[in-house]
Amino acid sequence: MKEIKIGILGFGTVGVGVVEGIQKNGALMAERTGIYPVVAKIADLDITTDRGITVPDGVLTTDAMSVIADDQIDLIAELIGGTTVARTFMLEALKQGKPVVTANKALLAEHGAELYKVAQENKTGIYYEAAVGGGIPILLAQRTGLVGNQIESIYGILNGTCNYILTRMELEGLPFDEILADAQKLGYAETPPDLDIDGIDTAHKTTILASMAYGTPVPISVVATKGIRALSGQEISNADALGYRIKLLAIIKNKGGKVELSVEPTLVPKTHMTASVNDSFNAVFVKGDLVGDTMYYGRGAGSLPTGSAVIADLMEAAADQSNKVGAPVGIHMMLQKEAVEYCAAGAIEKCCYIRIVEGDLKEAATILKKHGIDTRLIEESTSIILTQKAKESAFVAAMKELNGAIRLRLENFE
Ligand code: HSE
Repeated sequence: MKEIKIGILGFGTVGVGVVEGIQKNGALMAERTGIYPVVAKIADLDITTDRGITVPDGVLTTDAMSVIADDQIDLIAELIGGTTVARTFMLEALKQGKPVVTANKALLAEHGAELYKVAQENKTGIYYEAAVGGGIPILLAQRTGLVGNQIESIYGILNGTCNYILTRMELEGLPFDEILADAQKLGYAETPPDLDIDGIDTAHKTTILASMAYGTPVPISVVATKGIRALSGQEISNADALGYRIKLLAIIKNKGGKVELSVEPTLVPKTHMTASVNDSFNAVFVKGDLVGDTMYYGRGAGSLPTGSAVIADLMEAAADQSNKVGAPVGIHMMLQKEAVEYCAAGAIEKCCYIRIVEGDLKEAATILKKHGIDTRLIEESTSIILTQKAKESAFVAAMKELNGAIRLRLENFE
């Protein structure tokens, strides 16, 4: 039986999930794969706080570089997060030819182009299943099950924290901040949680899905991003009364060769499957030209679900190392093949929900019409207008004349 020695950098929520998962099921993994995973070293600046699990003496260290440099260590799991020291450590490991498994979506979204190249040059891999969708093997599906498809669209609920907040706001009517504090206690949220609630974490994950779909490192700057920070309970209950739920939805569409990417709080019909994705669950809907519609669902955040994805990558990286695969398919798929054209934020076509705060509804409808936006429903009792599809730039112009109005995207999945 071959053993692989793993060096873990970062002993936070995800690091603990990985160690706990290997302690529980390592023998099973060995039985299934012929490779026994051994956590040889764990580096963290804090090696004294009780994490609720026990590791053998000598495993914990505060010196991450010594773990990377250790000849006995076969694989590195970068579970620190952030884009500074994590980048330095990852580059160092890759330059030493060591495969790196990571859950770090921010790092890949911001420095992926550089990191994938360094991995390829050093004939090694970066494995990043845990960076998108927590425990859902969505990237595995993209690079194996869907490899024969051109990707037409991807819809994703990709942030466990936001989905947890939105679910509890709707079902329990609790204030935003109270639920966010619970999400932090449960280990779902980033530190600080601004990346979650401002939609940036979802945008990071969106670039990774799109990079794999279109074969280029998609820059974060092309994702039109809005978060849920300003969302009020009133919008959630108005949406409910109209037959919708509000989800922080990532949308990727290939429209005749131009790729449209956005993240924003969106009304989805209660009859659509996205509406049933609750709590910290994530879901990704991928439409391929051959396969048609597919859906992937599971826990999008948390220690053991994310640990499960990291473990899957560790076992795959170990197998690739044994088979001398070099840079794996997950790297080839992310490297630039041809230039991709992106749709400007203002050119994205969408329907919207607009709650008029000042002035009457007829006047508001006239203003919208002036900007080329047709209405689909005018709800007098709640001062709401649902629109037909129009360009984002038209909505932006119209909103300047609709003082104080609240606007959200509405997606019918047509
Ligand atoms: N903060 C992230 C989330 C963790 O809530 O989805 C998983 O990527």
